[in-house]
Order: sequence, then structure tokens, then C-alpha cells
Amino acid sequence: MISFKQQTVEQKAAPVQAPDNGEQIAPAPRISIQAFCETAETAAVIQAAGEDRRLAKTFVKIQMGGPAAAVEVYRGSPTPNVVILETESHGEGVIASLDALAEVCDAGTRVIVIGQFNDIALYRELVQRGVSEYLIRPTNAIDVVRVICGLFHTPDAKPIGRIIAVVGAKGGVGASTIAHNIAWAIARNLTLNSVVTDLDLAFGTAGLDYNQDPPQGIADAVFSPDRIDTNFIDRLLTKCTDHLSLLAAPATLDRVYDFSAEAFDSVFDALRATMPCIVVDVPHQWTGWTRRTLISADDILVVAMPDLANLRNAKNLLDFLRAARPNDRRPSYCLNQVGVAKRPEIKVADFAKALEDQPAAVIPFEPQIFGTAANNGQMIAEVASGHRTAEIFRQLAQRLTGRTEPKQQRGGTFGPLLEKLLKRQSR
Ligand SMILES: Nc1ncnc2c1ncn2[C@@H]1O[C@H](COP(=O)(O)OP(=O)(O)OP(=O)(O)O)[C@@H](O)[C@H]1O
Ligand SMILES: [Mg+2]
Repeated sequence: MISFKQQTVEQKAAPVQAPDNGEQIAPAPRISIQAFCETAETAAVIQAAGEDRRLAKTFVKIQMGGPAAAVEVYRGSPTPNVVILETESHGEGVIASLDALAEVCDAGTRVIVIGQFNDIALYRELVQRGVSEYLIRPTNAIDVVRVICGLFHTPDAKPIGRIIAVVGAKGGVGASTIAHNIAWAIARNLTLNSVVTDLDLAFGTAGLDYNQDPPQGIADAVFSPDRIDTNFIDRLLTKCTDHLSLLAAPATLDRVYDFSAEAFDSVFDALRATMPCIVVDVPHQWTGWTRRTLISADDILVVAMPDLANLRNAKNLLDFLRAARPNDRRPSYCLNQVGVAKRPEIKVADFAKALEDQPAAVIPFEPQIFGTAANNGQMIAEVASGHRTAEIFRQLAQRLTGRTEPKQQRGGTFGPLLEKLLKRQSR
């Protein structure tokens, strides 16, 4: 009856898109949504909302005809989890059609009304009749997404974790090194509980980089999908620092790692429930599950080296992701290993022009310090805390989480002086 993302109306108008600006909206569960629209504009907006990553698990069906059509349809068939009704009527007309719908609506179905009148009395009437939300036209895709997702996440629900995916435009560009250093800075400088999830199951280096050799990790989860819940995932994590954990790759070749597109969904759902920040080290591959991981992330960082193949791949990745995530902040990219002696490189400005965006960071080629860190299983900030690249990772950590460092962490010049004064006072 309910078909997957089926659309029964012609899409005429391009919906007004509101940028997400990094706002955190919890994805909706596997629910069915049916919309009954009166205008092509609203139908297009709901179609765009249905394609948003946060509604990826839902089934959305759009029909024309407004509340009257809804009543007609539900006379003979059960109502879905969510019904969206667009109405062009005035107050009394809206109420009358809702009363008609109430007679055929199953208990538990949530109703969202989209109307054209900003009328508080009408709003109250609607709420009294059990309508979950009233949106005023013109609305946009992200508002519809926010309202639908909000129905399934109570305000007192635990905050959900933010997923930051890091991927290389080519193999070996330094994507994993950057992901691990950013996660470390998030945990250390922003004191945010974070987990690095190493999706490069065969060759992942997160264990090496954090000097850990855990007996369990991501493979135990992805190969036992029925057991996955927050407790199970918790037990698979390895603690690296006070606020940083690791869901390590086995980095063994005794089996192959072919996965379905949805294979990691429940791992991410479980991590999201307990971890405020999840940094995903996505290998340089283009498969159903890498693509899905990137599309469903809250933020994305593409790492590229300044050559032509990287430029082409980064452009393809960014173009694809921008189109697939129209309601999200644009994915960022950074240039890495810039300034190799005698190597001709594409200039930062040319990269920025081709990618229509400035890089989030330009990281110099520093073989000494990166080599030492890699071989010792340390982060750049541990090898050389004052080094400019350590500062870049701190800045990237802030940018990707949208947070600034707590003031007391900065330990400014007055720190020791203040301590002395306080000691004196307490004597
Ligand atoms: N800015 C840099 N300067 C010098 N060396 C670097 C820099 N960034 C990364 N490296 C080194 O480059 C190598 C490759 O890094 P890394 O494994 O992080 O890349 P990757 O993109 O994740 O590779 P893969 O495609 O294999 O997953 C490592 O030895 C790392 O220490
Ligand atoms: Mg890697």
C-alpha cells in the first residue's frame, strides 16, 4: 500500500531550501509518512524532505487532494505513522476536515497540518484536537524534516552524537592521520567524549596511531548485527585517552570485508546514543556502505593532496555530496602534504576555484614530525605540542564540532598568578 518514496504528483516548483548550518536533528526511525497536498509547491517541499538523509529510513508517499483525499483514502485503509495535510481552508474549514479525519484515523497516527494562516486561535484548536504540529506556508524541506524527526525524539531524550566522516580524495593522502588527530583534539581540547570508528577493516591504522592493539572492535559489531546495542558496542570500545575511545579495525586478512549498504547503520545508531562525537575514518573506496556513511554523516571532511587526480576526485566527491545533502552544511575539504620540495603542485587558489570553496585547512608536508608520530603511535600534538599543524588540528576540531575550547583550558598567562593569589587568600 505504502510505496517507498513514491511520488504521485508532478514536481513543478523547486522547494525553498534552508541551509542546515550544522544544526543537529536526530534521524527519524523506520516509519511511514503520507502527505496529502493541495499545492505543487508543498508537494515539492515534502518530496525534498523525504530525500533528506534524516528521513532515509522512512517511507514517504505524496498525494494531491488535501484533507478530503485523506479521509477518502483512510476510509478503506489503515493510517500510517504520520499524516501530513496541507489545507488552503480558513479556520472552520480546517477544523471540519480534521474532525472528518479523526473518525477514520488510527490511534497513534501523528498528524501535521500545513496551512496558510498564522492564527493562534486556530493553532490552539488544532492542538486540542491532537494535531502534533502546524506549519505555515511557505515552508521548506528542513522545517518539514525537523518537525517529523521531532515527533520521535522528546526534548528530554539523550542528546545524540554528531558523526564526522573523514575521507581521502585518493588513497594515502593522509585522511586517517587527519581523522585521528582531529578526534584526539576534540577529546583533549574540547573535552568532548569522542570515538574514532575505523572503517578500513583490512588495513586500518587507528590502532597503530593510538598505540593500541585491542582484541575486539568494529568487526565484532558488523559481523554480529543481531547483538548490536549500546552495551554491546560499549564493550567493544578501547579507551585511548580520558575522553577518546577507539572502535578499532581488525586489520587482518583472514576474511574479506564485503558489506551491504546498510551494514553499519545499527553500529552508528548505537554509538550515537551514547557518544557526543563520532569521528569516522572512511577508507578511500566507493561502495554502497562508504557512500551511505558519507551521506548520512553530520559533517564531512574530504582530504586531498594538491595534484590533478586529487582535484578531480575531490570535485566529484564534493559535487556528489552537495547534491545528495541539499539541506546540510556543505562538506569541507582540506589540503594535505602541501609544499613537497621540487614537486609541482596545484595552487591552493586554483583548488578553491575548482571546488567553489576555500579549504578548511592547508596542512604542510612535514615528513619528520608526521613520520615520528606515525612510528611512535603518537599524535602530532604529543610529538610537538606547539607545532603549527597541531594548532591546525585544534582549529579543525572546533570547526567540525561547532564548539570552542572551554576557557579554563587555555591556561593563559594569568593562570599561575591567579593560583598563587587564591592560595594566599586561603591562608
Ligand atoms: N602532512 C603530512 N606530512 C607528511 N606526512 C604525512 C602528512 N600527512 C600524512 N602523512 C603520512 O602519510 C602517510 C599516509 O597517511 P594515512 O595512512 O593517514 O593516509 P590515508 O589517506 O588514510 O591512506 P589510506 O588510503 O591507505 O587509508 C602516513 O605515513 C602519514 O604519516
Ligand atoms: Mg586511511
